[in-house]
Amino acid sequence: MNKSKRKVVIAGNWKMNFTPDEATAFIGAVKPLVAGKDACDVVFCAPYVTIAAAQAAAKGSNIKIGAENVHFAEKGAYTGEVSAKMLTACGVEYVIIGHSERRQYFGETDETVNLRTKAALAAGMTVILCLGEVKDQRLAGITDEVVSMQTKLDLKDVTAEEMKRVIIAYEPVWAIGTGLTATPEQADETCGVIRKTLETMFGKEVAEATTIQYGGSMNEKNAAELLAKPNVDGGLIGGASLVPEKFQAIVDAAQ
Ligand code: PGA
Repeated sequence: MNKSKRKVVIAGNWKMNFTPDEATAFIGAVKPLVAGKDACDVVFCAPYVTIAAAQAAAKGSNIKIGAENVHFAEKGAYTGEVSAKMLTACGVEYVIIGHSERRQYFGETDETVNLRTKAALAAGMTVILCLGEVKDQRLAGITDEVVSMQTKLDLKDVTAEEMKRVIIAYEPVWAIGTGLTATPEQADETCGVIRKTLETMFGKEVAEATTIQYGGSMNEKNAAELLAKPNVDGGLIGGASLVPEKFQAIVDAAQ
């Protein structure tokens, strides 16, 4: 497995945190801490209303600002939703799709995740596609089947060319926000299953070039061990992305 073919991406997922002023202060604090650390890409995905403030604060730095979701329609009667065209018009390049909290609380399915993914890719965006098993699935020994199925359904009809703009975040649902982390071996093994699935769908070259992050209670203490694994190409960070020093430590671990 040649990890050097892949970009390491450390992305923060702010979830429903930070007002515009708080985002400005946060980016101001984290900017010098991650400056020049170019062994990885650094992204923060922000609530829609804080994106502009975060972008302004990040200007001229190595920090990129993304969104946390996107709708699949170009426009129309979808109250409360935001289209890929609206995001790109605001200079937003990255978007998280299929986060387990969207699947769990907002009725997101593999079908809608697939539609959103295709819409974002068609608009030229880079997608951070989240997938992963719930606790009962891991206990039942069907993790491999679950992530392989999600990979196939969520990326249905995506082209090999578009895969250059797809990052996969493997996030075991039982590890998100719980303080429980997959062991480096579990993370590596399941990221490997996703990579094998990509190989069956798109061929070896695409599979080896696709960034697969781990997410789920990644923090300043466990990041180095997780990121050292051959199949783990970065992290999607929730809680620890709200504290500049913790996020910095994870970026440092990726250098
Ligand atoms: P966590 O969240 O780091 O707080 O577990 C990760 C995520 O939900 O992306």
